[in-house]
Amino acid sequence: MSAPFCRCQCKMCRAPGPRHCCAHPNCGAPQLRREAPAAASTARGLPLDQRHVTRTLQRLRAESGSHSPSVAQIERAIPGVVQVDACFLANPYATTEVMTRLRAIAPSQLERMVAHYPSQAPAIADLLAPHLGVSADSLLLANGACEVIHALLASRPGPVLLSLPTFSAYYEFAHGPLVAHQLDSRQDFRLDLDDLETMIYRHSPETVVIINPNNPDGGLIPPAELVSFLERVHGRVGQLIVDESFSHFTTEAVPETAAGLVAHLPDLVVVNSLSKSHGIAGLRLGYAVMAPQRARDLRGSSLWNLNAFAEWFCTLLGDPGFQRSYEDARRRYVRDTRILFADLDTLPGVKAFPSAANFALVELDRPAAEVAAALLAQHGIYVRDCADKRGLEHGERFLRVAARSHAENRRIIDGLRAVLSRPATSRPLSPAVREPVLTA
Ligand SMILES: Cc1ncc(COP(=O)(O)O)c(C=O)c1O
Repeated sequence: MSAPFCRCQCKMCRAPGPRHCCAHPNCGAPQLRREAPAAASTARGLPLDQRHVTRTLQRLRAESGSHSPSVAQIERAIPGVVQVDACFLANPYATTEVMTRLRAIAPSQLERMVAHYPSQAPAIADLLAPHLGVSADSLLLANGACEVIHALLASRPGPVLLSLPTFSAYYEFAHGPLVAHQLDSRQDFRLDLDDLETMIYRHSPETVVIINPNNPDGGLIPPAELVSFLERVHGRVGQLIVDESFSHFTTEAVPETAAGLVAHLPDLVVVNSLSKSHGIAGLRLGYAVMAPQRARDLRGSSLWNLNAFAEWFCTLLGDPGFQRSYEDARRRYVRDTRILFADLDTLPGVKAFPSAANFALVELDRPAAEVAAALLAQHGIYVRDCADKRGLEHGERFLRVAARSHAENRRIIDGLRAVLSRPATSRPLSPAVREPVLTA
């Protein structure tokens, strides 16, 4: 890439202009002074008008439903504005490892990947299954975990028992009434499995969903408690979904998974997304482990639903060199994430909730939308404000901050500290109007 474009090639550095994030380990561009990170500016180097950023973010949020606008959408609206993506939830060190291998693909192979049909999902499952330690016939592969979630809920219409707040796809794709199990911020959003069990007996749901760790709070159920719960309630519902999309961030040790239980709990389905763990959200790859007969039934409704890059990635997972690099990247990210969490605790006017995932939910002393817009306009940092999160009381005060590389995390903390040390520009929050609690 020729000047004045940044040469480091990381996701945030592709905008025209001499600016760059200075965070990528292979960055070849001259480093900006760390103590004075570049103020956000347009691609032409003009300072950003915060009201313009606020209005643009509001518009894009409104157009994106319950999900955050992509970095690409924001960049099209305000080129060069996003320098640190702390909104989407993925390991940037893992992305670096994947990108190193992706750039090494020979042009002739790349052309074949673009020109030819990819393999069907069962053939790709043969590549992924040994890596996961499960049998290929128990795997349902999809174009992102969201596609699996949709298929699971569509195939078992009926009440869905779900703890709130959580990842919105589970209530948006539900094919039946939602039975809400409300998590309480005063108890750090801890999921009480005895309460959930009582609700199963009371409401007889078709589907029960547990997201472990949960999004947006990062709360984790200890493995032994989860196993005991699954064994207790097994046979009482149509399907028990356990979503482990953030499990790779819970520990530096080998992460626990409930996938091994599927063999003797046939109503259990374990969902996972490789977007987050492997930093490949753009490739779209997710899966579920389930009883082989159910996987066979669900596979019937898909044709070429995985693309050639996702297929290539599944071959990469079999490479021992990549496996070692990935493990290093995973452990390093877990360590850096814990440092970010400790630093969040030092910020004024912030309560950070305990998280075992790669993001933290933080409650502020002022409207989160105002802080999110200031972070983007003044510091180039994109975070998720949680005003729209269903079941999150006073959601307009909550931000979800994703961990990035160590250097980017420092920028996030410095940016938050600078924004929060100024007086709030909006009126103080009156007690939020609570959304009606959902019931069956
Ligand atoms: C709990 C959970 N599951 C699944 C997904 C979606 O994953 P994918 O990118 O593989 O569709 C998300 C996205 O944030 C999530 O939070």
